[in-house]
Amino acid sequence: MITTNYIGQPLSRVDGRAKVTGQAKYAAEFNVVNGITYGFVVSSPITKGKITAINTRQALSLKGVLQVFTHENVSGQAWFDKAYQDQDAPKDGSPFRPFQNNEIQFALQPIALVVAETFELARYAASLVHFEYEVDDKLVVGLEQNLDTARKPKTYKVPVTKPRGNAEDAFEQSAIKHHGNYYHGSEHHNPMEMHATTAIYEEDGSLTVYDKTQGVNNSQQYVKQVFGKILTKVRVISPFVGGAFGSGLRPQYQLFMAVLAALELKRSCKVVLTRQQMFSFGHRPATLQKIIIGASANGKLQSIMNKAFSETSQFEEYTENIVNWSGYMYHCENVNFDHQIVPQDVYTPLDMRAPGGVTGVYAIECAVDETAYKAGIDPLEFRVLNYAEKDLNDDLPFSSKELRQCYIQGAEKFGWNKRSPEPRSMRDGHSLVGWGVATGAWEAQQMPVRAKAILSADGKLTVSSATSDIGTGTYVSMTQVAAQTLGLAIQNVIFKLGDTDMPMAPLQGGSWTASSVGSAVYSVCNDIKSKLFNMARKVDNSPFADANEDDVIFDDGKIILKINPQVYLTYTEVMHRSGVNVIEEDTTSLPNMQKQNKFSRYTHSAVFVEVKVDEDLGTVHVTRVVNAVAAGRIINPKTARSQVLGGVVWGISQALHEDSVLDNNLGRFMNHNLAEYHVPVNADIKDIDVIFVEEHDEVVNPLGVKGLGEIGIVGVAAAVSNAVFHATGKRVRDLPIQLNKLL
Ligand code: MOS
Repeated sequence: MITTNYIGQPLSRVDGRAKVTGQAKYAAEFNVVNGITYGFVVSSPITKGKITAINTRQALSLKGVLQVFTHENVSGQAWFDKAYQDQDAPKDGSPFRPFQNNEIQFALQPIALVVAETFELARYAASLVHFEYEVDDKLVVGLEQNLDTARKPKTYKVPVTKPRGNAEDAFEQSAIKHHGNYYHGSEHHNPMEMHATTAIYEEDGSLTVYDKTQGVNNSQQYVKQVFGKILTKVRVISPFVGGAFGSGLRPQYQLFMAVLAALELKRSCKVVLTRQQMFSFGHRPATLQKIIIGASANGKLQSIMNKAFSETSQFEEYTENIVNWSGYMYHCENVNFDHQIVPQDVYTPLDMRAPGGVTGVYAIECAVDETAYKAGIDPLEFRVLNYAEKDLNDDLPFSSKELRQCYIQGAEKFGWNKRSPEPRSMRDGHSLVGWGVATGAWEAQQMPVRAKAILSADGKLTVSSATSDIGTGTYVSMTQVAAQTLGLAIQNVIFKLGDTDMPMAPLQGGSWTASSVGSAVYSVCNDIKSKLFNMARKVDNSPFADANEDDVIFDDGKIILKINPQVYLTYTEVMHRSGVNVIEEDTTSLPNMQKQNKFSRYTHSAVFVEVKVDEDLGTVHVTRVVNAVAAGRIINPKTARSQVLGGVVWGISQALHEDSVLDNNLGRFMNHNLAEYHVPVNADIKDIDVIFVEEHDEVVNPLGVKGLGEIGIVGVAAAVSNAVFHATGKRVRDLPIQLNKLL
């Protein structure tokens, strides 16, 4: 009956055509007709020490080279507010500030920006800037080598849930005992689009900045805080992002540099990092988790302890929510956790897709699997046996949790019941076949968001909010919510994002955009509906004069009387007859914390993986994956599926490929390029099946949407690890599982 029914439909991206035809512009693709300058970043060749001399004469003597910015001509300038904090930095931390002194604190630290009339000239001139250094070779590098320096963060509390029961005693009394140390190394963000900023210098001295970011408001805030003393106005725009995965949550140094050059030279400036420099501003931290599990003879978890160690820099304390998953995933009355940081001479780690969740769930899901084998119970059955009916960490019921259905539907699709329990018992020719399972979980959050909607008398609706679309499908899914809520054909609806002139939205991260921006779009469209209806009631001879909003439906651009659908007015007619050209609303949507705080809110998944391992060579291929996800209401199953597919691919990559190799003597990530930093190619990826399990949630937000930007990757590396064990009988507790670890 309703024709404008879009939520739940697998629509293609409204921005898809623009993307594949090159019409979609990214931060480095904006230009001005004349006068753009190009900045090239010089990265430090040493890891630690001091710059003792800089000679820029040769570089500056070239015609077309405009300036070389270093700490010698930047630091201490009056405009620089040393007290700034960016929104995503740890509170009370001390973010790295480029060009502030002669100290070198990490490999590839940016030490100069060479600005010239062309990119090539800037790059060439950069090779002519001469530095002298005093090298400090007493490096502190390597997580496991420096565990004796592990400590609590000094400036804030690390996220560790409080102990419950008595984990030590319960472990001692357990019939089944397991302990294992689970390690994964650093990983770097490698989105297709490198970090880039184009700062356009406007005639009035204001700036229009095109930045690669996960939140324009955040970049704007940062620029205002740093340059506020001399900058009159700054607008930040970011219509498209070529992937970010968390690397765009913090303003990166190219933003600072492009703005610095534009303001100092009073010329527009563009700074694009090289692929190598993408390895210079944060990474998923190397992490070690020491897990101890006790279970009863019949496979009930009695005790879980997890002591985690993660890397951070010498100048900032980065932590993630790593250990709490060990107390959340299953029913266990006795738990005890700890998390310490190990400061090293590397750059500060940075959020990377499902930060902490990917890490913590990997370890607990491998450890639980090992315990299941020790108990002689099927790993899937073991998980069901220890199902958490409530969140024991926070002692709260779940707003919804269809994880059981994820297990059932995933197992069914995968054919889990045909699994032979013994390791090394399944083969395919020369390959050992292994089937593994793991659980995934991620938070379902809602943030405050503002959105604006304008309905014009020609029946077109424009909705805007300063959020971003980092590839997640925000453009199309928000268009669907707007079109359905206001009852308009989708081609009459435009959703705009990525501009600080639009109503404020938080960073796109934490999987909260669909839920948060979705709620704002829903709310603002409902406000338009009410205004429109009130208008409709007041037109001459209105058929709705005695009706309430409940008595009508809004569909296909018409207000229709429920009891007699022949009676209707089109929106266009209502507005024309009321002499109104536009109806405009601006709404802030806030999470209902009173309601939400009474519940634990998470998405869940069950990941099933088949691997084939060459018996002689130890090469691992993931041949099948089924990921069954419960994430509340799915706005667009097509883009949602893509999110989960991407997550699974990255999980496989985390398990088998990705590895930022840190040389402990040099303090450098040695494979800082895409030739040596391995990511999966098409040949590595076979069948991936995504199931969305039906889940109704009345708590998370009015739409019942939980979000799924991150759940797709969580649990995947554990499922691969568990499958590799099942295939080979060998437990590798150290990611990535490269063939040398299996031989
Ligand atoms: Mo995600 S690491 O919250 O961008």
